[in-house]
Amino acid sequence: MKRVLVTGGAGFIGSNFVHYLLREKNDIEILVNLDALTYAGNLENLTAIETDERYCFVKGDIRDKELVENLFSEYCFDTVVHFAAESHVDRSIEEPELFLTTNIVGTQTLLEAAKRHWKIHPEDKYSREYRGGVKYLQVSTDEVYGALGATGMFTETTPLSPNSPYSASKASADLVVRAYHETYGMPVNITRCSNNYGPYQFPEKLIPLMIHNASNDKALPIYGDGMQIRDWLHVSDHCAAIATVIEKGRVGEVYNIGGNNEKANIEIVRLILSELGKPESLITYVKDRPGHDRRYAIDNTKITTELGWKPQYTFEQGIAETIVWYQEHQDWLERITSGAYVNYYKKMYGDG
Ligand code: NAD
Ligand code: TYD
Repeated sequence: MKRVLVTGGAGFIGSNFVHYLLREKNDIEILVNLDALTYAGNLENLTAIETDERYCFVKGDIRDKELVENLFSEYCFDTVVHFAAESHVDRSIEEPELFLTTNIVGTQTLLEAAKRHWKIHPEDKYSREYRGGVKYLQVSTDEVYGALGATGMFTETTPLSPNSPYSASKASADLVVRAYHETYGMPVNITRCSNNYGPYQFPEKLIPLMIHNASNDKALPIYGDGMQIRDWLHVSDHCAAIATVIEKGRVGEVYNIGGNNEKANIEIVRLILSELGKPESLITYVKDRPGHDRRYAIDNTKITTELGWKPQYTFEQGIAETIVWYQEHQDWLERITSGAYVNYYKKMYGDG
């Protein structure tokens, strides 16, 4: 991992991953972060590393073939880590088409450029043959497997059965990645992780939204009965797992990544209220999300036994630290929720 393209590196998990790589991996020569800066992309997440000479930010769309092609020509990547996506289930219900083009067509655009550059310039010192081929890692989600009942867990062989436009677009992208491996022999991996939490998560997602609302004495909207279960993974454990798969994963394989932390939504919301010393009267039950998956749970046996990764965080430690982080970064939350940062980017980069 020396010449790395990260897509979506201004988002929640991507920005944590950029920090992680520059901190943990000494052999990085160049890390290019390609991000369109949608509503979910925030360069403020990266201010601490923006002057690092190994780092380069490019504002652009993964669906822009020419741009992507030029980046591959210019930087000769040996590793691609693809985070960029429309990621919020509720938004996918309102605007499915955007999810299909970004998540499926965007993935195929990257794969195509990676394939072309993996094959050419055999004599070039940065060629794929010289370095053993560009490794492409697709960051996917456990939501592609659909919903579980009260028992059982998702393994890598669980059939894909997505229920939302978001998860359907991610499942489709996974199949395209698989096809590039099967058809062209491209060295790919797919990782499917459970719900992440930690610093820099956009406050439309459950945990930062509830912390933000509770801190401001606003209502906490619980969908349905609040008994839906998610399997929570601290984002820094996720970053370490991705790096492990890039370095040690068997080519063509899927790896599930989970933190063994199944919690009902209402349980988490009560915990946040109690940590913040706020009353449970802030909880407001609202209409359920259509097609709401009841339960997700990841069986992480494959990555733990085959690659030796395991989560470091207990949920209790992770959530306590996360609540403190958001309390200490109220200004970060405030700038996002006030829309100030969107206006700033419009001024800096225009609307495009
Ligand atoms: P996010 O919404 O916080 O960030 C997405 C980033 O992608 C943003 O910076 C955005 O500007 C960028 N982006 C969107 N469309 C783009 C485009 N067309 N071109 C270039 N950049 C674009 O998402 P996240 O929570 O960090 O998720 C990252 C990845 O992990 C996604 O692929 C998501 O499906 C997957 N994932 C997330 C979770 C989770 O709990 N957050 C769980 C499982 C899988
Ligand atoms: P979310 O963070 O949107 O992640 P995902 O839908 O990808 O799992 O939601 C996590 C869970 O919290 C999910 O069951 C929906 C629920 N939820 C609420 O009850 N209220 C909310 O306001 C939000 C955003 C989510």
